[in-house]
Amino acid sequence: MLFRLSDIYKSYSGNEILRGVSFQVNPMEKIGLVGRNGAGKTTIFRLITEEEAPDSGEIFKLNKLKIGLLEQHVDFTENETVHTAALSAFQHLHDIEAEMRVLEMQMAEHASEEVLEKYSELQTEFEHADGFTYTAKAEAILLGLGFMKETWNLETKNLSGGQKNRLGMARLLLSNPDILLLDEPTNHLDVSAVEWLEDFLQTYETAYVIISHDRYFLDRTCRRIIEIERGTAVTYKGNYSHFLVEREERREQQRREFENQQSFITKNEEFIRKNLAGQKTKMAKSRRN
Ligand SMILES: Nc1ncnc2c1ncn2[C@@H]1O[C@H](COP(=O)(O)OP(=O)(O)OP(=O)(O)O)[C@@H](O)[C@H]1O
Ligand SMILES: [Mg+2]
Repeated sequence: MLFRLSDIYKSYSGNEILRGVSFQVNPMEKIGLVGRNGAGKTTIFRLITEEEAPDSGEIFKLNKLKIGLLEQHVDFTENETVHTAALSAFQHLHDIEAEMRVLEMQMAEHASEEVLEKYSELQTEFEHADGFTYTAKAEAILLGLGFMKETWNLETKNLSGGQKNRLGMARLLLSNPDILLLDEPTNHLDVSAVEWLEDFLQTYETAYVIISHDRYFLDRTCRRIIEIERGTAVTYKGNYSHFLVEREERREQQRREFENQQSFITKNEEFIRKNLAGQKTKMAKSRRN
C-alpha cells in the first residue's frame, strides 16, 4: 500500500463535494481518476499532498512517501536553463560527483586508506543511482517532450507558459518519486509529445494516478479507473473503454434493482389495499349480522 483514503468528507462553503470517498493505491498501479467537471478530482490530489485537509475521514500514507505532483503552474529558480532545470532532479548525483573529484585530487597527492575507502563508497552509491546514465536519460526526456537541442540553453524565465509546464513534467519524470500525481498532463502537449508520454508511461514502473478527460490517453496508460460520482469513489478494473462497459452494466443492474424494489412496493401496496378492503367488508358484514 502506498496510500489509502478512508471515508473522506470535504465541503467548500457548505457545498459537500466529497461524501465518503475511500480507495487505496498500491505500488506499480496505473490509475485513471475520472469524473465530471467539479466532481472533486483535483481536490482529492490536494488532500493527498496535504494542501487541503479533509473535514472528516483519514488519509494513511506510507512513511516518507515521496509524491511527485504535476502542478498546473510550474516555476523555476533564477538562472536556470532548460538543461540545468531538467538535471536539477539529480542534484544528489551532482554532489556525489563533486565530492569524488575532490577525493581524486587528494588521491593524486596521497592515497590514504581512508580516502580510498570513501571514494569506493561514493562510487558504489553513484552506480546504484544510475549515475552514469542520468544525463542521457534527462536528454531523452527533454527530446520526447519537444525540447530540441537548440532549446537546451534557453533560460527558463524566457519560456512560455506551455514550455514551462512541459519542462516541469520533464523534471517531475526525472525526480524518481514513489507515486506520480498528474492533473491533466496532456493539456500542454502537442500530439507527438502526448504519444511520447503514453509510451514512456507504459514502461514506467512507478505507480501513478492520472486525472484526464482524454479517454484515448487513459486507455493507453491506465489499468484501473476510479470514478468520482456524487461524492464517492467507485473503482473499476481495466482501462477506460472497459470502465465504460462495466459502468453501463453496473447502472443497468442498479436500474433493475430499483425496478424490482418499485414493483415490490406496488405489489405490497395492492396487497395492503385489498386486505384493508377485505377487512372493511368483513367489518361491514359483521355489523350487518
Ligand atoms: N478552494 C476552494 N474554494 C471553494 N470551492 C472550491 C475550492 N476548490 C474547489 N472548489 C469547488 O469544489 C468543486 C470540486 O473542485 P475540483 O477542482 O476538485 O473539481 P475537478 O473534479 O478537479 O473538476 P475539473 O474536471 O473541472 O478540473 C468545484 O465545484 C469547485 O468549484
Ligand atoms: Mg480539476
